[in-house]
Amino acid sequence: MQNNVLILDFGSQYTQLIARRVRELNIYCEIYPYHKIPDDLSGFKAVILSGSPFSVRAEDAPHPDLSQIRGKLPVLAVCYGAQYLAHFNGGKVEPSGTREYGRANLTVIKDGELLFDEIKENSQVWMSHSDTIMELPEKGVRLASTTDVLNAAYRIDGEETYAIQFHPEVYHSTDGKQLLENFLVKIAGTSQSWTPGAFVDLTVSELKEKIGDDKVVLGLSGGVDSTVAAVLLHKAIGKNLYCIFVNNGLLRKNEFESVLDQYKHMGLNVKGVDASDRFLEALKGLSDPEAKRKAIGNTFIEVFDDEAHEITDVTYLAQGTIYPDVIESVSVNGPSVTIKSHHNVGGLPDFMKLKVVEPLRMLFKDEVRRVGKELEIDKELLGRHPFPGPGLAIRILGDITAEKVRILQEVDHIFIQGLRDWMLYDKVWQAGAILLPVQSVGVMGDERTYEQVVALRAVESTDGMTADWVNLPYEFLQKTSNTIINRVKGVNRVVYDISSKPPATIEWE
Ligand code: XMP
Repeated sequence: MQNNVLILDFGSQYTQLIARRVRELNIYCEIYPYHKIPDDLSGFKAVILSGSPFSVRAEDAPHPDLSQIRGKLPVLAVCYGAQYLAHFNGGKVEPSGTREYGRANLTVIKDGELLFDEIKENSQVWMSHSDTIMELPEKGVRLASTTDVLNAAYRIDGEETYAIQFHPEVYHSTDGKQLLENFLVKIAGTSQSWTPGAFVDLTVSELKEKIGDDKVVLGLSGGVDSTVAAVLLHKAIGKNLYCIFVNNGLLRKNEFESVLDQYKHMGLNVKGVDASDRFLEALKGLSDPEAKRKAIGNTFIEVFDDEAHEITDVTYLAQGTIYPDVIESVSVNGPSVTIKSHHNVGGLPDFMKLKVVEPLRMLFKDEVRRVGKELEIDKELLGRHPFPGPGLAIRILGDITAEKVRILQEVDHIFIQGLRDWMLYDKVWQAGAILLPVQSVGVMGDERTYEQVVALRAVESTDGMTADWVNLPYEFLQKTSNTIINRVKGVNRVVYDISSKPPATIEWE
């Protein structure tokens, strides 16, 4: 890729955000940890140095050798990056009197500078640093100041090296996107050609080249990522893509049949495998959430392995891995500490030994959706709420039986259909029902009842890391509660979960 932007990560919480903003400008970029600068930089047109939780004065602070970069490629150094260039090139970085955090305004901007083209004085920026640049490095030219920060931005004379102490990637920097565009397009000359259409064309031809006439197996989940990955691969290799869609018996009501149908209509070569009984059997008597998750994970691996063996001469395993997972595994701090438990002490199941192909590994979630749209995947499928892999098993608190699954599927169906009917579905990030291990007293006609309680949960979120409960209209809740209690045998009480994450989680188990 000749038009690539290299983002060198010094461990800032905002690094991913820089990448997202660059991609929003339709410019492709990749994040590398500061200690793994690629040897071959010929594909890159510009470099952005990220911020960092470190102080440049700390002994263990990141200290990469930038000799292959500086003066050779246009550089935009953000926050730590800006301080790093100053500190090691004759400038002076010291602790600021007060921690400079939050909104500030660029009270002075030097005239005629491309980096600040179309950005006016008083533009709001976001500061987040406890060190500050007291003196600029050699050949430093000050470009902007705020009331408290004299050297808010500078460049180095004679090279295309720019540095800013504020964060253009944060929305509170109102002209941040303009500044990034000024740097990437006007200064570095990158073209804004990274569009979903361009991605599809490039990926399909790369997949064709890589896979040739080999066979690929892929597990479909009904979710956005695996579906988009499948459609891309299908475009590249057609019938040589073998999709497997497993019914674990813990999906939403009618979901297996309807999603399988949709997949077939999309022309995918897909086999639906109803393994509900096998999963129920594996879950028998288990009530610990992690034990349930493990039993489901292991059973899935067994079922998938059996099915993969049915396809002769398969070479590749395709996965819907997306960029945040990739970044996590190569981040400055190393892979996340969660170590996936593995069922098979005797070695990996055969399908895990296949070569892996991951067509979405460079995309963020919203980009996957945009690519899905470009591929004309059904809007309803692309807009579906996230649904956990272990499905209803972690929404039935305690042990699982076929009857409990039936009850929860009915309740969930009424709730979700209601959200759709009331045009609330797309306003909610995720919703579902939980079957509580509690019975409560009620009356129906002249009879006392002693039946199940269900909770409804609907949250707003962007990534599931934090979430707020949704203020659903009382009339909607009232109607939904009535319908559930009237129609679902075995339930006589409905409650609504009004806890946010943190401290609660989205799922109850
Ligand atoms: P929590 O409950 O941790 O959920 O706030 C955050 C997001 O993750 C989903 N989730 C899971 N997804 N396997 C999955 O594939 C799991 O075991 C699992 N547990 C939680 C949850 O639905 C929410 O979107």
